[in-house]
Amino acid sequence: MSRVAYVNGQYVPHGEASVHIEDRGYQFADGVYEVVNIDNGQFIDLEPHLDRLDRSLDELRIAWPMSRRAMKLVMRQVITRNGIKDGLIYIQITRGVAPRNHAFPSPLLPPSIVMTARKLAQPKAEDIETAGIKVMTTEDIRWTRPDIKSVSLLPNILCKQKAAEAGCYEAWLVDRDGFVVEGSCTNAWIVTKDNEVVTRQADNSILSGITRLSFLKALEDNGIKFSERKFTVEEAYNAKEAFITASTTRIKPVLEIDGKPIGNGHPGETVAKLRTIYWNLMKNGGNLPKVPTNIRENHG
Ligand code: PDD
Repeated sequence: MSRVAYVNGQYVPHGEASVHIEDRGYQFADGVYEVVNIDNGQFIDLEPHLDRLDRSLDELRIAWPMSRRAMKLVMRQVITRNGIKDGLIYIQITRGVAPRNHAFPSPLLPPSIVMTARKLAQPKAEDIETAGIKVMTTEDIRWTRPDIKSVSLLPNILCKQKAAEAGCYEAWLVDRDGFVVEGSCTNAWIVTKDNEVVTRQADNSILSGITRLSFLKALEDNGIKFSERKFTVEEAYNAKEAFITASTTRIKPVLEIDGKPIGNGHPGETVAKLRTIYWNLMKNGGNLPKVPTNIRENHG
């Protein structure tokens, strides 16, 4: 089956899909995106992803290109036309096409929307031993609003590339005070020696990951002790376990940070347990009916 993309109202062969050279997404990275996981033909945590898209658009004052209902229909069309059972869908919305000028175009233009989808072999929960990764830490060089899921990802890709060149899967970004912020494209977690699961609080400094929210809910539902707070690189080195989460990677145990083994250097029991819980939740389309309403309040 050949790949199909959705571009501004049309389904086009993937290889021919294009946007105008003066699209503000292309020239200014003036746009937002979402990545939604598809498991067994179901979108995972779809409503929270659309809630976050709504928030990102609102923060950047970009209009929805279509109604939320229409968006879901197009998303469904895109995965059907691409024959996707397991994989992901990418949605990008930009401020539209206009002669290059930093200020918003006036009058406002219709936003541009692109959707692509691709197949992804879904890993199995029990394959945990092969899921372990290495992480390196590096300075967080991003802007002060990483909570907005903007397509402006240059610092993220530079950090990820640095990690790749160091033989690591992910870079953990560190703030000026030595606290871990998040990964270049994932959220960062540790399990302390007291069995407390810790991830940074969702303020403006991190992207409030949908998978992160899903795991927080899973921790609560399963009576596992957790805390949303900052943790230092030193604390991470000394953690019993560490892991990352994202829609694409789901949950992966971190076995090494900056060359130092975490715990005994093998995936730990908390991560294994969470992995199984999450896989089971995904059979029902995810864990979250809706993003907690305080996500807006968190970001003022
Ligand atoms: N990345 N933090 C950052 C900086 C991210 O880019 C992502 C997602 C996450 C996890 O968010 P979620 O659980 O909603 O996927 C955290 C996506 C997958 C990407 O850029 O491809």
